[in-house]
Amino acid sequence: MMPKAPILLMAPLALFAHNLMPVPAKLQPGVGRMRIDRNFAFVQLNGYREPRLEAAAARLVEHVARKTGIPMAPATGVHAPAAPLVVYCDHASAPVQAAQEDESYRLTVTPVGARLDAPNPLGVLRGMETFLQLVDLDAGGFGVPAVTVEDHPRFPWRGLMLDVARHWLPLADVKRTLDGMAAVKLNVFHWHLSENQGFRIESKRFPKLQEMGSDGEYYTQDQVREAIAYARDRGIRVIPEFDMPGHATAWFPGYPELASGAPPVPGPYGIERQWGIFDPAMDPTREETYQFLDAFIGEMAALFPDEYFHIGGDEVNGKQWDSNPRIQEFMRAHGIKSNEELQAYFTRRVEAIVEKHGKKMIGWDEILSKDMPRNVVVQSWRGPKALADAARQGVSGILSNGYYLDLGYPAAYHYAVDPLGEGAADLSAAEKQRVLGGEACMWSEFVTPELLDTRVWPRMAAIAERFWSPQNVTDVADMYRRLGAVSRDLEWLGLTHVSEYEKMLARLAGGGPVAPVRTLAEVVEPVKDYAREEAHPYDRFTPLNRLIDAARPDSETVRRFAALVDRREVEDLPAIREWLTLWRDNHARLAPVLANSALLAEDAEISKDLSAIAAAGLEALDKTHDAAWIAETRALLDRAKKPKAELLLSVEPSIRKLIEAAYR
Ligand code: ACM
Repeated sequence: MMPKAPILLMAPLALFAHNLMPVPAKLQPGVGRMRIDRNFAFVQLNGYREPRLEAAAARLVEHVARKTGIPMAPATGVHAPAAPLVVYCDHASAPVQAAQEDESYRLTVTPVGARLDAPNPLGVLRGMETFLQLVDLDAGGFGVPAVTVEDHPRFPWRGLMLDVARHWLPLADVKRTLDGMAAVKLNVFHWHLSENQGFRIESKRFPKLQEMGSDGEYYTQDQVREAIAYARDRGIRVIPEFDMPGHATAWFPGYPELASGAPPVPGPYGIERQWGIFDPAMDPTREETYQFLDAFIGEMAALFPDEYFHIGGDEVNGKQWDSNPRIQEFMRAHGIKSNEELQAYFTRRVEAIVEKHGKKMIGWDEILSKDMPRNVVVQSWRGPKALADAARQGVSGILSNGYYLDLGYPAAYHYAVDPLGEGAADLSAAEKQRVLGGEACMWSEFVTPELLDTRVWPRMAAIAERFWSPQNVTDVADMYRRLGAVSRDLEWLGLTHVSEYEKMLARLAGGGPVAPVRTLAEVVEPVKDYAREEAHPYDRFTPLNRLIDAARPDSETVRRFAALVDRREVEDLPAIREWLTLWRDNHARLAPVLANSALLAEDAEISKDLSAIAAAGLEALDKTHDAAWIAETRALLDRAKKPKAELLLSVEPSIRKLIEAAYR
């Protein structure tokens, strides 16, 4: 008998374009497909069992039902159908999810059924998300391609920091965010609960914190417990952050004695309404400050089970300390020579309190000073160097610099940032172990419940892949292909990044046609970094209902057009011409809508620019041009490139390429 060549049993890898994000550590395609039908309701749990696994199985069935539109109900009859997915879990995970736990799993799908093996429930949860992502539609119906996945994360700490303080984000938004995090195997929810602009959690010890610091917008402790349980069900740790000694104005309306303001202006304090860095800071020189923090941290440490407790520590400008004679006298008496040293003194005192309450301290990179205990974790927001320096000093850290979702960069930008990239290259193996992973940050100056998902998703999924997948998974085009699939999946889970975008466009159109609004929206991007705050005075009551609020940091249209222009084969020209024609003619279509929408009126200039540069692009397609034409057209492009209404015309660079190519 002829031995079968194994190669014939496997689908060629190149043809197996799976939709998994994050990409698993190992994936071996098989042959054929497992069909998904109503019997998928029969997911079977074997081995170690707990309510969390029952709930996860029920959720998987529900999610497969939503994704396929197939109501899941087992066929009734004499013979129960075989379980389509059998899960084997070996043992329990830690009672409180720890920072370093096994999250590995093995998933085998064959045409006759699937099996998921994991040492503990965390791996089961991760493997179920993989299974859900594999569900797709082909000519034969819904199914899952035969495959073997052996998977585990690259980094143990894969997080999202959500600022619920600058703009209030109610519990429903937190839960929806946790759903999305679970879908892409993130495992740390960092809850930024206090800021200048709001104190967002109930304290029973110090009720004036929420009563006077939140406008009534805060989580009750029952809601916090609910969120923690919801996160645990999804394999996600919850770390609270109470930012101190700066970013703390909202503590002071209720407890002005905590602040450092000197007479004659020690207070009263109000909740801050603007964005920026402000002077009020806790008083590090009074024992009463530490007595307060001891009681407060004790209360919160009992509420949040995670082993880590985040104390912020960023961006103290020191002005209140400089102007308070009593604080200056304290510094002289204690040989404290600078505000940095004063903050280090404060942070060491707070660290001792955190440790007394059974927690390890985490803070932004400003917390690191030479005599800080080595068991703290540093969250580097200022750059990869801080992380590498910490690792060399024996301190573990996570990277957030490069993962700020609020700064308006496309997914590819964040995807290129690696916690062990630039800055970490010359670390020893032991030092590299101290780089635990990373967290994306969603600061909420420009985020409301309506906007939250559009600002987090789908870009967060690309960052999640950076944290989970092997370091060599870096193909940007393939990342975007899979990001599209994940984005659709997330909407089935209840995330709203697509649906809210559609509603915002309709609002902008004010009852007029949405199509020309969409055409413009898809070729513009918000200005980057902090340019938006510099462009316009904003506060917490400014409506976020403009085109810039709808515009995505990452436009698929712009990406596709750029790819066509870069390739520019003869067969690409009709599509290029079609896009340019659509854009050239869009201003005429949009003008009546602009005229009837106060929200869109500011976008008339950028709309005209789009038409003008698209028209020039069409001229460039048709023939070559002389020096006078290129000079005039470059001036047009330069004008179009300038931000307008806080928007960038992001097709401009590709149209410029076409135009430059036409100059001979
Ligand atoms: C920060 O962005 N100030 C942590």
